[in-house]
Amino acid sequence: MSGASTATPYQFRILQVDDVTEDYVKWFSDVDIVRYSDNQYRTFSLVGQKEYVKSCLDNPDMDLYGIFDNGRHIGNITLSGFNSPHNRAEITYVVGAKDYWGKGVAAWAISEIVKLAKQHYKLHRLYAGCAEPNTGSRKVLEKNGFQLEGKRINHLFYNGEWMNQLDFGLNLS
Ligand SMILES: CC(C)(COP(=O)(O)OP(=O)(O)OC[C@H]1O[C@@H](n2cnc3c(N)ncnc32)[C@H](O)[C@@H]1OP(=O)(O)O)[C@@H](O)C(=O)NCCC(=O)NCCS
Repeated sequence: MSGASTATPYQFRILQVDDVTEDYVKWFSDVDIVRYSDNQYRTFSLVGQKEYVKSCLDNPDMDLYGIFDNGRHIGNITLSGFNSPHNRAEITYVVGAKDYWGKGVAAWAISEIVKLAKQHYKLHRLYAGCAEPNTGSRKVLEKNGFQLEGKRINHLFYNGEWMNQLDFGLNLS
């Protein structure tokens, strides 16, 4: 499945193996970027990341979109599980170019995914989880109309600490 958007100010399309650069790999060695993510438990390399992107392209139940600004790859957003009989999918997102933080990139990318989820994937519902202290992640979901639906206590172990997971959902129909 694929989709694309040319809406300003950023660009958004399915990530390709040739989009994988050393800069992209370096996102995941930054403690600020992996602070609230399972990526802190993984190791990343150029070869490994190309294989990951290929595996996403081959996966009929997941789409990995890259977010670009004038050709520069600045973030990703994924939609997964959309073939489920429940007609719903999970979103995850990262703005890997830290110089773009606080500029509305994630809020914009989520709004694009919400549009695609309705128009292209014809989904009934989206959901996302985030660690409770991840204020930025929570705000970008709330800005897009996601509702807090639950809290899993001490569900996540990041940076040597237990933390709660907040579960958000958005009904589309
Ligand atoms: C969380 C993340 C996606 C936010 O992306 P972003 O593009 O900087 O977010 P936006 O610029 O769209 O911000 C939207 C709102 O959240 C706020 N916000 C963003 N980061 C914030 C932070 N760390 N603390 C408090 N508020 C924050 C912004 O101020 C803005 O609010 P406003 O419109 O009321 O001013 C980004 O910081 C990131 O990729 N972090 C690392 C990976 C990650 O945590 N992914 C989510 C896993 S659940």
